[in-house]
Amino acid sequence: MTATFWAPGRVNLIGEHTDYSGGLVLPIAIHLGIELAVQPAERISLVSEGKAVELSAGGGGDPRGWGRYVAAVAHELAELGRPAVGIEGMVEADLPRGAGLGSSGALEVVVALALCAVAKFQVAPIELAQACQRAEQRAVGVPSGILDQAASLLGREGQALLLDCGTLERRWVELPPQLAILVVDSGERHTHEASGYADRRAELEAGDPRRVRHVAGENARVHETVAALERNDIQALGAIFRASHASLRDDYQVSTPTLDGVVAAALAAGALGARMTGGGFGGSVVAIAERGDADGVLERTLARAGAQGWIVEAAGGARTVASRRRKDSRPGRA
Ligand code: GLA
Repeated sequence: MTATFWAPGRVNLIGEHTDYSGGLVLPIAIHLGIELAVQPAERISLVSEGKAVELSAGGGGDPRGWGRYVAAVAHELAELGRPAVGIEGMVEADLPRGAGLGSSGALEVVVALALCAVAKFQVAPIELAQACQRAEQRAVGVPSGILDQAASLLGREGQALLLDCGTLERRWVELPPQLAILVVDSGERHTHEASGYADRRAELEAGDPRRVRHVAGENARVHETVAALERNDIQALGAIFRASHASLRDDYQVSTPTLDGVVAAALAAGALGARMTGGGFGGSVVAIAERGDADGVLERTLARAGAQGWIVEAAGGARTVASRRRKDSRPGRA
């Protein structure tokens, strides 16, 4: 049996740096993702871009690089009772790594789906998201939240996921058809291990007023965004996005001059709103525009700043796919 699994990256529309304090997030899954074709095996043997990861079926071994995520997922699933069945297969991705689009979360999720399937082990999607979140923490020691893994597993076509990261209560919010979502990769790469991510979390927990002010404001902005989406008021989103970016830049201090430059370029190019998305310290910007303006806005933004960009649609969450999707995706624009 060969089976192919696919897990999407994500773009968080709003609700940044709120997940690990039990706040609100509003991500979409996107069409860029990671695919894994596997068959059952005695061990875990995976190859990506010519690099191999070799582990025992329960995740034991001495993994490096992306192998740490694979091992950590296997360990977390073993703790949930997954029988130790291995997999052999190949990983392919059209989701850029370190671009703030949830690439490590997508890798964890796709590996988790494959490991569960070969062992006929069933875990509810939200529990799988929690296991993958624990795997992320285990793999790299960064105290990240559940945003990326939940978005990858629970994404729905045409809808954003409204998730309360404290209670895990969730619902999906329909996106207005005239709303275009643009993602611009700044080209500035980051890892949470090397960034100030863990520091920010510690500062928030210590009650730093600026950090707390960001989180309180950002949670309110998630509610405002949902209300604006529900009344199809995409003009109102612009101001909310701009306020979110200012708060991330000035109060939470996770933006960079490069990200600020991409935000400014998007606004100058006619975006209604733009903000950094994801953990920050590099990565991507999410911008919004009227559907009819989107191509021009993206083109003009990329002429001024950023490395690559896409107009993204809210995609369905991680799943089994019939065959390789990769050849369908067009790099640069989709
Ligand atoms: C990263 C983390 C998420 C979340 C965001 C910021 O993507 O993995 O858990 O904290 O940063 O919103």
